[in-house]
Amino acid sequence: RNIVILISGSGSNMAALVNAAKAERWAERLDARVAAVISNRADAAGLEWARAQGLATALVPHGEHPSREAFDAALMQAIDMHAPSLVLLAGFMRILTPGFVGHYAGRLLNIHPSLLPAFAGLHTHRRALEAGCRVAGATVHEVTPELDHGPILAQAAVPVLAGDTPEALAARVLSQEHRIYPQAVAQWLKVTHPSSKTACV
Ligand code: GRF
Repeated sequence: RNIVILISGSGSNMAALVNAAKAERWAERLDARVAAVISNRADAAGLEWARAQGLATALVPHGEHPSREAFDAALMQAIDMHAPSLVLLAGFMRILTPGFVGHYAGRLLNIHPSLLPAFAGLHTHRRALEAGCRVAGATVHEVTPELDHGPILAQAAVPVLAGDTPEALAARVLSQEHRIYPQAVAQWLKVTHPSSKTACV
């Protein structure tokens, strides 16, 4: 089963997923592999990293399309070349159209840097600090047409420390993202793979 990962930036979550797939032998144990990494930005550092790993990569620049629908259609074409069983948004910074989300319904996940339903949208760490939150965190969820509001698969909470800046909090949350995203994806693959070879791992 092919996994396609969409990124827009550093791709640290993508890297965590690729590394977990290798370390946990997803190909043999879960019949799953990362088939491609696709970005909407040419300057996404994650593309270079993925290429260096020997992964297939593609660039679908959003600026080259006259509308959101046209971009999503081009993106779907690039994704579907790999016939994915699962599409993972990992630091992908585009809002997707209902048509795109519907096309991948039930096999489209995202990682969001807050404890949803709190702080959907952008600048989550600054907003959490401004609200005086004592804990923050990250959420792995299914993507539905309503932004950052799909069924939750996994969450991790981290403490907010005195003097935290958004950057400090972001780093603390990001390290948890790198743990819960691969964990949630491996669980999803196990649950959706009827003849999963692992008995009860
Ligand atoms: C992370 O905070 C992630 O939660 C958000 O994008 C940020 C960068 O992710 N979606 P990455 O390093 O590009 O994976």
